[in-house]
Amino acid sequence: MNSSKPPRIGLLTRNRDAWPSTQLRRAIVEHSADAVCFNFADITAKLGEGPEIVIQDSIDAIQDLQAVIVRPIGRGSLDEIIFRLDVLHRLERGGVFVVNPPSSIEKAVDKYRALSLLAEHGVKVPKTVVTENPDSALEGFREMERDVVIKPLFGSQGFGITRLSDLEATRRIYSELNYFRHVLYTQQFVHHGRRDIRCLVIGGRVVAAMSRQARGWKTNVSQGAKPVPLNPPAEVEEIAVKSAEVLDCRVAGVDLLESPDGYFVNEVNSQPGFRGLQSVTKVDVAGAIVKYVLEELKR
Ligand SMILES: Nc1ncnc2c1ncn2[C@@H]1O[C@H](COP(=O)(O)OP(=O)(O)O)[C@@H](O)[C@H]1O
Ligand SMILES: [Mg+2]
Repeated sequence: MNSSKPPRIGLLTRNRDAWPSTQLRRAIVEHSADAVCFNFADITAKLGEGPEIVIQDSIDAIQDLQAVIVRPIGRGSLDEIIFRLDVLHRLERGGVFVVNPPSSIEKAVDKYRALSLLAEHGVKVPKTVVTENPDSALEGFREMERDVVIKPLFGSQGFGITRLSDLEATRRIYSELNYFRHVLYTQQFVHHGRRDIRCLVIGGRVVAAMSRQARGWKTNVSQGAKPVPLNPPAEVEEIAVKSAEVLDCRVAGVDLLESPDGYFVNEVNSQPGFRGLQSVTKVDVAGAIVKYVLEELKR
């Protein structure tokens, strides 16, 4: 890195005025670095001549950035999502420090891949059955005491998640989902008492945590759950740090459900929002992310 120039940090965001992005921009500037905001649609990849990846309306090659912080890569067609990840992989090969790395985003956003990796590493996850076959899914439903949630393999913010306990309704839903070529993802209902725990792990450390108190069983803030301050027990911190490590996430929002059978990791978010968390913690969350990135660049 050229020591006479401030480091330049890219912020890959669909909306530069979204709350987390404004916080990250503020923190980048406060740390005497330059912030460059852009969207995936601003990126052009070229092969054969000149800089390989350029940002629209900018003479700068994206390779001139030292780091890129990735906000949600968003919904999109299979083409779009694969291309976005391709671009992140290309940036990494070009020496850009990408948070989170595309390989960890790939692991975390795929609910089966994430939970299977966690289970393989001894992290407790809810009992889950994943299949393309409606009969096998129904067998799973019966095995899980007929109290399950079904989820899209790639979902977020609680959308498309349904709790089922009726056999005939479940059979019908599996058949419909199968007709539209969805993978059937069924999980035993974890009796979590309408709250879950979110730990934000940055660089292998829990820097802030909260509990989310819901009125129903979905504890997403986007579904109306309320953030509550939390000083997590050491066991929870250990599980959260290990979960982030298993998925190689440099920054991770690790969600745990606490039931009478202990803690289950429900999900690891590789591009976590932090507005709710910031409302219940004194830690400057955006500042902690930016500080971590700059420290890693110095290494
Ligand atoms: N197996 C489960 N048992 C009980 N509640 C669950 C279960 N799975 C998900 N939930 C609830 O639904 C919410 C959304 O599910 P999640 O798997 O995190 O998907 P999303 O990616 O949409 O947030 C969770 O935060 C949790 O409150
Ligand atoms: Mg979730």
